[in-house]
Amino acid sequence: MLFDKCRIGGIETTSRLVRSATFEGLADDCGYPTSEMLLAYEHLAAGGVGIIITGMIAAGTIEPRQHRQIRCDGDDCIAPLAQLTDRVHKHGGKIIAQIVEIGGAIMLPEGPGTIISPSGIPEKVGKEMQASRALTHDEIQILIQDMGKAAARAEKAGFDGIQIHGAHGYLISKFLTPFFNQRRDEYGGSLENRARFLLEILTTVRQSTGADFPLWLKLNCADFMQEGGLTFEDCQQLMPLLAASPVNAIEVSGGNMASLPRKGPIRAIRRTKEPMYFKPYAEHLAVALKDTPIDVGVVGGFRDLHQIEDTLAATPLAFVSMSRPFLRQPDLPNLWRNGSDEPAACISCSRCYGTDAIACIFHKTEKE
Ligand SMILES: Cc1cc2nc3c(=O)[nH]c(=O)nc-3n(C[C@H](O)[C@H](O)[C@H](O)COP(=O)(O)O)c2cc1C
Ligand code: SF4
Repeated sequence: MLFDKCRIGGIETTSRLVRSATFEGLADDCGYPTSEMLLAYEHLAAGGVGIIITGMIAAGTIEPRQHRQIRCDGDDCIAPLAQLTDRVHKHGGKIIAQIVEIGGAIMLPEGPGTIISPSGIPEKVGKEMQASRALTHDEIQILIQDMGKAAARAEKAGFDGIQIHGAHGYLISKFLTPFFNQRRDEYGGSLENRARFLLEILTTVRQSTGADFPLWLKLNCADFMQEGGLTFEDCQQLMPLLAASPVNAIEVSGGNMASLPRKGPIRAIRRTKEPMYFKPYAEHLAVALKDTPIDVGVVGGFRDLHQIEDTLAATPLAFVSMSRPFLRQPDLPNLWRNGSDEPAACISCSRCYGTDAIACIFHKTEKE
């Protein structure tokens, strides 16, 4: 079942295993993919994962992008990004562009920059507080249009679909979070208002791309904050709104920079002893959407082939995503396809996480 031909979120593929978005830190000074990045994606595609979601690609024109982040905020990006999609297609893989408006955790070489946010609430990034300014109503409209334009460019560059990054405390997720969204206009207050930014982006992206161009969303099931976070009840209430939206697939994640200890998106599962940490939430959401055409998947702490197969067999979840295991073993799907049932070698230490040339520490050690 894991490696049967199937269609997920509008994309024909050969596996229900998805590579979840993983920031690479491998762009050149122009924000174009470097040869190192093209090679990394070629290895991933050759390793047999069906669908690859890129690391977050900067779409917004009114905020700085992350250090060494690729971008999709101008037509000059189309040709360089087409090289990336070509490399993946050459190996029979599919590739989705994850586009983001950051609105948080911008780490520049000189330290945290000033971010844009719904209400100008500062945020702790590492040991420093990140300054933030509230978006004006006009800027919100610009950002919505920026996402539509970025999606259209990604389609031209040959991507097989788009994923809107609506999770982990980045801008769209911040709009959903009462602690960060204290606006008094139609983008703040009730859940319907806090979801308006996301829903207008989904509609604009659909209008800017082909009617069948797959449109995915990464969404927090909850923020797991002390107070003021998006709750699971809020997320459940979002489902009817998303069911009426043009989205084709939802990848369920959770947590942000302000989550309670060990409750963020990227967890040390050897220490917490809680693998598959968003599975119960994702399963509930998949049940809520089971009579809709939307495919629901889950990411977070999947490492074991049998647990992944059981998850797909016993729940309405359509796919399981992983991020860190592919940094250590880009060929993990082919190992499993060819009969191995060894769990992923990744120890979930998260020492690959950073801002520059992301790689598994075990590979770094081997190179040194
Ligand atoms: C190095 C690194 C970079 C990441 N970059 C992104 C990203 O660009 N966009 C995103 O949505 N999630 C990103 N994530 C989060 C992963 O997609 C995933 O949600 C999380 O790591 C949990 O899955 P895992 O246990 O399989 O690693 C990143 C994670 C890591 C470790
Ligand atoms: S650094 Fe740690 S978490 Fe990252 S891929 Fe390597 S083993 Fe996994």
